[in-house]
Amino acid sequence: MERRIYIFDTTLRDGEQVPGARLNTKQKVEIAKQLEKLNVDIIEAGFPCSSPGDLEAVKAIARDIKNPVICGLARAVKEDIDICWEAVKEAAHPRIHVFLGSSDIHVEKKLRKDKASALRMASEAVRYAKSLCGEVEYSTEDASRSDFNYLCDVIRAVVKEGATIINIPDTVGYAIPDEFGALIRKIKENVQELDSVTLSVHCHNDLGLAVANSLAAVKEGANQVECTINGIGERAGNASLEEIVMALRTRTPLFAVHTGINAKEIYKTSRLVSRIMNIPVQPNKAIVGSNAFAHSSGIHQDGILKDRRTYEIIRPEDVGIKQHAIVLTARSGRAALKHRLGELGYELEKDVFQRVYKRFLNVADRKKEILSDDLVSIVEVELTKVAETYSFVNLQILSGNDITPMASIALKKGDDIITDASIGNGPVNAAFNSIERILGKTGQLLDFDLKAVTHGKDALGEAMVRVKIEDQVYSGTGTSPDIIEASARAYVNAFNRYFANHK
Ligand code: KIV
Ligand code: ZN
Repeated sequence: MERRIYIFDTTLRDGEQVPGARLNTKQKVEIAKQLEKLNVDIIEAGFPCSSPGDLEAVKAIARDIKNPVICGLARAVKEDIDICWEAVKEAAHPRIHVFLGSSDIHVEKKLRKDKASALRMASEAVRYAKSLCGEVEYSTEDASRSDFNYLCDVIRAVVKEGATIINIPDTVGYAIPDEFGALIRKIKENVQELDSVTLSVHCHNDLGLAVANSLAAVKEGANQVECTINGIGERAGNASLEEIVMALRTRTPLFAVHTGINAKEIYKTSRLVSRIMNIPVQPNKAIVGSNAFAHSSGIHQDGILKDRRTYEIIRPEDVGIKQHAIVLTARSGRAALKHRLGELGYELEKDVFQRVYKRFLNVADRKKEILSDDLVSIVEVELTKVAETYSFVNLQILSGNDITPMASIALKKGDDIITDASIGNGPVNAAFNSIERILGKTGQLLDFDLKAVTHGKDALGEAMVRVKIEDQVYSGTGTSPDIIEASARAYVNAFNRYFANHK
């Protein structure tokens, strides 16, 4: 009998700790809805006591999402646990996740306690959480660097107080697969009390081993894995959900386990998270990178044409990457566009569809064929747009290798079209300066990423920016066959996020 592995997604909590990736409630709910379609078992929706915004977002997710367990994180203190319960209590399946350091360095240096009092603190916190919520998870933070006997004592104590899930985190990504697998085996052998609870793991990627460590733990009996879409998270990130799920699925006979994940939603989820959080996916990223299924060498292409299995262990369609028969061009009508959007899994509300259609025609006028990735990019930019204080109208650039680049931009605010121009040290810089002149506000560009969504000379360009405006970082995205226009649209998008927060 195959064991069931529960997939605990922490994109909205550990993933959201990435600098500049902070989301508002609407964005978090949108990702949570997609995670529900992906059929994750648990959504860790946030850390409710960290800010009023996070509390509101977790509450909204708890109200809107019906199937997965909705979990909130709390430190092992009453105030955090109360706020966490306030956030998750309306969920169909709520869970409180309490954590406390268990390694010497965490107990002595961070908590400034001795082990006995840290253990008491853990027990009291779990007892209190259990008085509010039937499902309580306890994480022994920094477990992989903890004294083994103390770790077992903590686990026994919190299970006695009612913890139903015990999570063993490799908080600093220090573990090596054999060692981490052995730790899970030893914990299971030494703590009989674990027979009645779910044993979970949570691995960070500081040594690039988060997925390998998680898989080693699954082999040794862990039955919940904590992970994030695209592997995003603190520092080098968390274990990537798509890699774990596809490894377990591709090598089922080896692991003898299964998950409930609807793998066909993987690609769409990856794109959505990348776009909303403004964190690009590296091209060679396993499963979801743009090159993950691209065969470029002649020998490989020959093999693929004869039998895909020669060089492909996963079919792109298994993770939701589709090839389509109908070619979309500027002559395609609304029906064809709607049909393709349906195939890609989008059911858009009327006004969003209208905006997508308008943008589709604008791009199709300048690009021969609109491929699925182009369309996904257009749709996601429209879906993740905040209410636009300023909308992009047009752009003119004068640039060359021996003239000073100049950009003239027109933006619309209400019924007014405002135009201004500026020079810069390059055309993108000139465009950004013109935008700032119109807005009467300056920003500090922290990150600028530009990539082609598809291949070929007429590929759609996708720009992502991260801009510090006053004391906060705002991200923006923009797409266009013209990369300066894509960049300008992304810059305006970032400022619109600022204006949406400062009404
Ligand atoms: O990495 C970690 O230890 C965590 C815990 C809160 C589970 O994120
Ligand atoms: Zn973590």
